[in-house]
Amino acid sequence: MKAIDEIYDPTDPATIADPYPALARLRAEAPVAWSGRLKAWLLTRYDDCLAAQRDRRFSAERMAAYFQGLDPARRKQLQRSEGALGRWAVFLDPPAHTRIRSHLNGRFTTAALAAMAPRIERRIDRLLAAAPDGGAMDFVADFAYPLPAGVIMEILGAPLDRLDDFQRWSHDLALFVGSSQTAPDKHLRAEAAVAGLDATFRGLLNDRRRRPAGDLISELAASPGLSDDDLVANCILLLFAGHETTTGLLANGLMRLILHPDQQDLLRREPSRAEAAVEEMLRFDSPAPAVSRVVAEDMEIRGRRIRAGERVFLMLNAANRDPEAFADPERFDIARSQGRQIAFGFGIHFCVGAPLARLEAALAFPRLLAAMQDIGIAADRLDWRDGVSLRGTVSMPIRFRAAGPP
Ligand code: HEM
Repeated sequence: MKAIDEIYDPTDPATIADPYPALARLRAEAPVAWSGRLKAWLLTRYDDCLAAQRDRRFSAERMAAYFQGLDPARRKQLQRSEGALGRWAVFLDPPAHTRIRSHLNGRFTTAALAAMAPRIERRIDRLLAAAPDGGAMDFVADFAYPLPAGVIMEILGAPLDRLDDFQRWSHDLALFVGSSQTAPDKHLRAEAAVAGLDATFRGLLNDRRRRPAGDLISELAASPGLSDDDLVANCILLLFAGHETTTGLLANGLMRLILHPDQQDLLRREPSRAEAAVEEMLRFDSPAPAVSRVVAEDMEIRGRRIRAGERVFLMLNAANRDPEAFADPERFDIARSQGRQIAFGFGIHFCVGAPLARLEAALAFPRLLAAMQDIGIAADRLDWRDGVSLRGTVSMPIRFRAAGPP
């Protein structure tokens, strides 16, 4: 088993920065691999990741088992996290999942978002206009973070003047939920973050019950069948999922355009390719590289025996470069026409916010490229977040030549 940890070590900075060579080896040599470091199985082939997401024996209820396994004192320390995360749609199986999900379906469809598009465009233009004339910015802090955070806060009805608090809480939650490998105190930081988010959303909920404001919190507050605890927990999920990932899509996507100037030129010349370019960014280097499950009963995959209760990571970023599913998968090609990427998952947990993430990115990239020429990374090395389930850089200093307003 040691050999697997030598091929893929999720704590190794070089692997965190570029996991793809290691993932390719696993996919070819050990497609069902036990990672001693992660204490979990890793599935790296497209077909296996797809099949697992269709298979009810792969349970999404991994949080309940985690908290139940803690010693009583520790469990008490983390009781708010257990209360909130235990109600997140993403960590539930049917029938509890079906009930919560029915309240979220339809909220982020393309039709429901139609009115948001001009507002998102205005946000993009404001952020680009604020970029310093000198042609340098931290793309994460100055664009990729505030755009999706502002959009999801506006949709929910969360006060924008609390953006800094939401950012801190969300970041601390990401260390835990994103399976950070090194963050000290990640559980206690997540607990404090949940406490802050819970109090804020409960306050907003009470306020909207008295004075509905036409935002998502007001709508959810009026929809029967959701307890306050369910509602608050899933608002936290929407806020968290609604921007941590999209930040990564924008930053990882721009990085790919910088590293592949021919593709950047193509998109600049033909902005109508934006939606296809975003699909390729998601396939090539998604910010949600893995989802995890707990196996509900003993099973065998490709001759490996997996026992009930063991954890499995479905390595979506490995699946999305599987040569069995995509021609020439290591090539970043925004004109690619074959293959369906699974960066938003598959099946009953398919990402609720996929249309929103796609819309934000498809609006952002043409405007970015129209506003910036000669874009380059202005750092010798970048710090990558070390989470197994979230991928992105902590910051991304860039330099560029301003090309006038979009
Ligand atoms: C590039 C951006 C995004 C990526 C790559 C992404 C990826 C994913 C993935 C892989 C899942 C499935 C998780 C699993 O099966 O365990 C998921 C679920 C989910 N996502 Fe996203 N997501 C993105 C953006 C968003 C946005 C913008 C929102 C909110 C508006 C959102 C809300 C959710 C929710 C609520 C779920 C849980 C759905 C369920 O369990 O039924 N996501 N996302």
